[in-house]
Amino acid sequence: MAKMTVPKISARKKRNGDDALVMLTAYDAPGARAASEAGIDMILVGDSVAMVVLGYDDTLAVTVDDIAHHTRAVARAKPDCLIVGDLPWMSYHVSVEETVRNAAELIRAGAQCVKLEGGRKRLPMIEALLDAEIPVMGHLGLTPQSVHAMGGFKVQSRQAEAAVELIEDAKALQHAGCFGIVLEGIPVKAAAAVTDALNIPTVGIGAGPDCDGQVLVYHDVLGIEDRFVPKFVRRYADLKTQTIDALSSYAADVRSGAFPNEDESYHFSDDQAEAFGLYGSGPEEL
Ligand code: KIV
Repeated sequence: MAKMTVPKISARKKRNGDDALVMLTAYDAPGARAASEAGIDMILVGDSVAMVVLGYDDTLAVTVDDIAHHTRAVARAKPDCLIVGDLPWMSYHVSVEETVRNAAELIRAGAQCVKLEGGRKRLPMIEALLDAEIPVMGHLGLTPQSVHAMGGFKVQSRQAEAAVELIEDAKALQHAGCFGIVLEGIPVKAAAAVTDALNIPTVGIGAGPDCDGQVLVYHDVLGIEDRFVPKFVRRYADLKTQTIDALSSYAADVRSGAFPNEDESYHFSDDQAEAFGLYGSGPEEL
């Protein structure tokens, strides 16, 4: 597969007969390699790293340095996927200057573009990023960085009026120059209406089947964690069970002496074994 680019993503709309976009989060080199070999279009180095890798309860604790660190790991794998760096909370809220500087950190770390949460109130930041030649992906609906303002991780735009506001936000992001928009945690009909209203692609998570693509979190797709499984997640593997089974077998083999065996150990050549034996300190038989 050729390297994915922002213009290639931006042109993809299902209504034009294009294939649905497939986006997945990844936070390290092995994950990025697997995503690339699986033909995933976009890797999001998401601030969800806070919850699925770093053990926090929400995304608010991660910093630009954290996302840059994980972006560098993803980029080292040289995936064919577009690499999207997620701007964490407070990295694009204070000033346009700070926003551009923080986004530049992620681009220097290997991202080809950035994603940020929020609608019309983010326009000055989005315009400044685009002025600095940094492509921007929007994120509307359930925006996890607003967890406290929303009173929890709650489905958004359930009311008709809020859904109309959502469409206006999406149009404003498109008008500003965003190349795509993530739609999270909104009713199917609201997501379909936003998707219809735009010429840029929408990528849904908990937003139903009518978006131009879908995004899921790596650890959810693979069943690496089972603490909390949102309704919209489909698991394609149960790696937590497989991991615990494998680690239990490893522990049992070490304790019983079954690991390591002869083939898993290094040996002297015959002449060195004999010479070593002559020192009198080595074991009689090696
Ligand atoms: O950080 C993340 O994983 C995200 C997705 C939920 C879209 O922003």
